[in-house]
Amino acid sequence: MPRPLSQDQKLIRRILRVNHAGEHGAVSIYSAQLKRLPSGANDLEAWLKETLSHENEHRLAFREAMSSRFAKPCRALSVWSVGGWFLGSITSTWGRTGIFACTAAVERTVHAHLEEQIAFLRHHDTELAALVERIQIEEISHLSYAEERLGPKSGLAASLRTVISFATEVLIALSTRGDSIRLRYRLQAAIEG
Ligand SMILES: [Fe+2]
Ligand SMILES: [Fe+2]
Repeated sequence: MPRPLSQDQKLIRRILRVNHAGEHGAVSIYSAQLKRLPSGANDLEAWLKETLSHENEHRLAFREAMSSRFAKPCRALSVWSVGGWFLGSITSTWGRTGIFACTAAVERTVHAHLEEQIAFLRHHDTELAALVERIQIEEISHLSYAEERLGPKSGLAASLRTVISFATEVLIALSTRGDSIRLRYRLQAAIEG
């Protein structure tokens, strides 16, 4: 009879499931922005292609990390595909401001989640902690690139970032059926405990 999972093992599986789904959404966002790149933002094509290749690598790395930890992908991956594609498409209609505001909002939200995960994983799964830290370096580079180019805060950029950050958190919570919220509470409890 299989031994019941410890709380730590459950948390590690949740981290993998949420992260893999998030990378799936990121692939959809950047794919849509590339596909619908407005003519005034053609110079962003190379950066979007490179960023998309990073997100594909991240998704694969989290998927590969699942098997040895007996974790399974989120069952609502299609929500991430549709949500990501919608977000990428709509933000590209605002051109450079929309694309950079989207990247800044999404990557800032992701960054906050990764910080908590690393603090927990350093004590419970050093191999996975190292993977998340490696991926976080590239996520920070996406965030910095977008924030540097957003320039002085415009009303449009600030509004888009607020709406997109909120939408990203809601999408994460809905698609994981509240897992991301429980994960945040449990990670904070585990880190503090
Ligand atoms: Fe990523
Ligand atoms: Fe990213």
